[in-house]
Amino acid sequence: MKRIYNSETPKYLGKEVKIYGWVNTRRDHGGIVFLDLRDISGLVQAVLKPEIAGDVRPEWVVCLEGFVKERPERMRNLKIATGKIEIEAQNLEILSKAKTLPFAVDTDGYEISEEKRLRYRYLDLRRERMKRNLQARQKVIHFTREFLIKNGFIEVETPILTKSTPEGARDFLVPARLQAGKFYALPQSPQQYKQLLMIAGLEKYFQIARCLRDEDPRADRQAEHTQLDIEMSFVEQEDILDLVERLYTSLVKTIFPEKKITKIPFPRITYKTAMEKYKSEKPDLRRDRKNSDELAFAFIVDFPLFTPQTKEDFFYGSGTAKFAPSHHMFTAPKKEDIPLLNSDPLKVKSYQHDFVLNGREIGGGSIRIHDSKIQNKIFDLIGFTEKQKKQFTHFLKAFEYGVPPHGGIAPGIDRFLAVVLNEPNIREVMAFPKTGDNCDLMMDSPSEVTEEQLKELHLKISKKKK
Ligand code: AMO
Repeated sequence: MKRIYNSETPKYLGKEVKIYGWVNTRRDHGGIVFLDLRDISGLVQAVLKPEIAGDVRPEWVVCLEGFVKERPERMRNLKIATGKIEIEAQNLEILSKAKTLPFAVDTDGYEISEEKRLRYRYLDLRRERMKRNLQARQKVIHFTREFLIKNGFIEVETPILTKSTPEGARDFLVPARLQAGKFYALPQSPQQYKQLLMIAGLEKYFQIARCLRDEDPRADRQAEHTQLDIEMSFVEQEDILDLVERLYTSLVKTIFPEKKITKIPFPRITYKTAMEKYKSEKPDLRRDRKNSDELAFAFIVDFPLFTPQTKEDFFYGSGTAKFAPSHHMFTAPKKEDIPLLNSDPLKVKSYQHDFVLNGREIGGGSIRIHDSKIQNKIFDLIGFTEKQKKQFTHFLKAFEYGVPPHGGIAPGIDRFLAVVLNEPNIREVMAFPKTGDNCDLMMDSPSEVTEEQLKELHLKISKKKK
């Protein structure tokens, strides 16, 4: 007999079926045993004679064969899709036994300590809410891919082993075995690659890109996150905003039809207005903040190109320069403000755009500099040393060979999902997130490596964490 999913069982009324899954609950009722069985499609109730049920317990993996019967009217459970039927078991095969789980998986899980949930993530993901979140994530990514491909974009994978450059966060470094003393860096984002793809003539690029930043994690920040990375040539800022607006409106209508978007077109608000009117560069524009189904998207534009440099900006320059980029160093100054780069850099406005949803920054991007002279000028203003500038030689060299005007954006997929699914934390929309000190408790990573491995990599550990 072929296996069917639990959700399909009502279609087989009166027929014999074979199902596989986990025992969700067991109830013994005077000479009869009820099991709720769980598979990826949901729950179904089975009725068993005690001798067939044996000592089967919750979370054991089983194969059950039996007849689909209508439940008596008063026994129906309209809360579950298979609630009008039950399976009268003929045979139960135990495929795998289970110890008592460290926590319940038939609740939403918020009541359990996060440390425990992450240590046993494979059990935590058994809960309905986590499965729904991962399914929603896939739907969002799938819809996005189709939408962009239909709109003429090409998806390109860029390297994970790349080069350390001072781009705004701390790099994760990977020692190069074949180049003693040298390191790769994991990409903070594919920023330089996507600009180089524009120089290559690809015109419309996207990637569902994993980005890695050695930052202290927070509710909306992880060491690894996923961006919908987009770059386009021969466009103006409004073309980028329009594309993102069309994508997110149709995505919400299709995947989250219960959600109401506060305003379409999404408001375009200048940085100055946002700060004056809302005292925030990521204002929450919901009409009713108690309504969990409201989505208030907005774009913030006309940011200053620079902010005054602080100690946090140690990546740039010698730490003595006055200016740090507000977005990143490839963001173009507004054309009419270029003369101010010499006289009053803090007054220069840029073509940066932030994408905001319900008071959170869910994306950022800009029109880029495509003139190497201006790029050099920005490097000087943020105080790059000659050595730091050299780290970008490859990039500036490419700018000598015909560069289309270009720009892009990168909405964060984790942050969007957390908002739309009303989750308090991006960890709830990721399969295997890390803890507050960047550990994977399930894998027990990071971990020590052998002396041989270190030797091969030409590394010596000078201090170990106790
Ligand atoms: P930016 O650094 O603003 O821009 O990042 C874009 C978006 O990515 C998400 N994000 C994060 N999400 C979770 N954890 C993190 N640590 C994290 N860091 C960023 C946010 C953010 O808005 N290359 C540029 C984009 C561009 O200019 O096109 C970039 O990475 O939602």
